[in-house]
Amino acid sequence: MSVHELHGRKALVTGGARGLGQGMAEALARAGAAVMIGDVLDVEGAETAQLIGKTGATTGFTHLDVTDEGNWEQAVATTVSELGGFDILVNNAGIELSSLIVDIDPGDLRRMFDVNVVGTTLGLKHGLRAMRPGGAAGAGGSIINIASVAATIVFPGIAGYSGTKSAVDRITRIAAAEAGKLGYGVRVNCVYPGLVPTAMGMKLAVDMAELGLFPSAEDAVEAVVGLTPSGRLGEVADMADAVVFLASDAARFVNGTGLAVDGAMGS
Ligand SMILES: NC(=O)c1ccc[n+]([C@@H]2O[C@H](COP(=O)([O-])OP(=O)(O)OC[C@H]3O[C@@H](n4cnc5c(N)ncnc54)[C@H](O)[C@@H]3O)[C@@H](O)[C@H]2O)c1
Repeated sequence: MSVHELHGRKALVTGGARGLGQGMAEALARAGAAVMIGDVLDVEGAETAQLIGKTGATTGFTHLDVTDEGNWEQAVATTVSELGGFDILVNNAGIELSSLIVDIDPGDLRRMFDVNVVGTTLGLKHGLRAMRPGGAAGAGGSIINIASVAATIVFPGIAGYSGTKSAVDRITRIAAAEAGKLGYGVRVNCVYPGLVPTAMGMKLAVDMAELGLFPSAEDAVEAVVGLTPSGRLGEVADMADAVVFLASDAARFVNGTGLAVDGAMGS
């Protein structure tokens, strides 16, 4: 059972094959929503959808590279037709490529902006088009962008990534303003997760050591915990529960803002 009720809602979670996105998809389904997973990882994505389906929830998988506009059109159409609507979008897909600024590779930088900024913005474009009155789903909804504590703190080795997540933070607020002004009936918010030991989170710690910023990955993790008043790393469930809250009617007047789920690291 979830404290926030989402029965009858239809969600699309990008990057939902694994990590935080998988946890978010599972939590949305537990709260009663039907959930479509969109990811470039076809095998893992289909497996995750199957796993969620075993709990009795309505689920599906659609191939979605968030940088590709045609993929978005297809993913939204599949969500609407297979789930019977579309009123929750979680723009979770993202990548992180660490580097010192003095060594930054323009290709890596462009790739991060493509997935994290262009991908999220295309999600907003196609999500808002579908959810607004007259759209393919047309019943309004809630869009949640996954930014990062990296948008609110200064940490070495992640300049490009922090830039992309700061952009997501700003774009979130403009999307909420446009949606409100134009009567779309769609709330748009973002979440700033703290460090969570997913594949991405653990690689980041290893990168910090390789860049010579910390003696070891363990030291990097310890430094993050030391900067976190709650005294621990984040867990997948911490982020998933925040997404369920923002998707639900409990957050009906929460709009155009960012929710820090970081144990006060960014405070
Ligand atoms: N793990 C952390 O510590 C942390 C902290 C703050 C924010 N975040 C953000 O949370 C989100 C999820 O991170 P995670 O830790 O689960 O990472 P992860 O690498 O474990 O999972 C990311 C998922 O996104 C998918 N993906 C990547 N590029 C894609 C694309 N072009 N189109 C569609 N899907 C794509 C991957 O296939 C994967 O399933 C990311 O946006 C990340 O920046 C993570």
